[in-house]
Amino acid sequence: MSIDLWAALLRFTHVGASLFLLGALAFPLYARAPSLTRRSINALGLTALGAGGAWIGGMALGLATDTPSVEWLRALLFTTEFGRAWLLHFGLTALLAVLVLCGGRGLPVVVVAAAQTASLALFGHSVVLDGWQGGVLMAAHAAHVLGAGVWMGGALSLLVVLGKADLGDEVVRRFSRVGYVAVAAVASGGALNLRLVVDAWLPGVGNTYGALMTAKVALAATIFALAAFNRLFASKPERRKLLLGTIVVEHLLFLGVVLLAALVSAQAPHG
Ligand code: HEM
Repeated sequence: MSIDLWAALLRFTHVGASLFLLGALAFPLYARAPSLTRRSINALGLTALGAGGAWIGGMALGLATDTPSVEWLRALLFTTEFGRAWLLHFGLTALLAVLVLCGGRGLPVVVVAAAQTASLALFGHSVVLDGWQGGVLMAAHAAHVLGAGVWMGGALSLLVVLGKADLGDEVVRRFSRVGYVAVAAVASGGALNLRLVVDAWLPGVGNTYGALMTAKVALAATIFALAAFNRLFASKPERRKLLLGTIVVEHLLFLGVVLLAALVSAQAPHG
């Protein structure tokens, strides 16, 4: 397998675990119901940490022009934009993993998880612009991934809750309300991101970036349609089994979208 593909798979694993973790930690705060088990939360924290370390470490080694040394690493970490972004993002990922492994929950841990997810905006095409456009692009990327995390991790937690009949109906309503905000952040953040990076509201298909982004947007549109179907039809109490099934399908599509996002991030938008 090529190094680029390894990097994309590690990025996918790190980003996916981080997003599910954020959503699962936030869920009990607004849904007033339990989320994933402690073991699952710990596994997500450790996966985000391990895959994140391997992904960013691999990127750093890819930048080495000579045999890596301690001086080279020190210079990379403390004197380059990449190094400072790496330190911040990895520091937040490590702090989050320690907090969840120690059983930390509640608003302070969600704030750390949100900062860790938002700092993904420091990597990839969201750093290509300067000035006010660069600031808007970073904010759009952060809103996009924060919305995706709250949505994905919340939907995963809802799956667990739906297994407990006495908790179901009210929790579905609370999740739906937060879901509107999360979906709006995903859609507006993603669209603005695309507009600023490729100067168009829809991706072209003339290069690998455009083709992968077109597939990602098509998959995302299917998830939006499924979410609307759930809200308007499948969320009725008597259709609980149907809702369970559509949420499982939604998660398979989420994984596809996050994988495509990881592949897109390694491609040149104007190549
Ligand atoms: C279910 C819906 C979606 C999910 C879960 C999702 C998730 C993600 C994730 C996880 C990233 C990569 C974050 C990173 O590695 O830092 C990303 C990047 C991005 N997404 Fe989405 N996305 C969705 C829908 C959309 C839509 C509808 C658009 C466009 C209209 C869009 C446009 C983008 C763009 C432009 C990027 C930045 C890619 C780059 O240049 O690095 N996304 N998305």
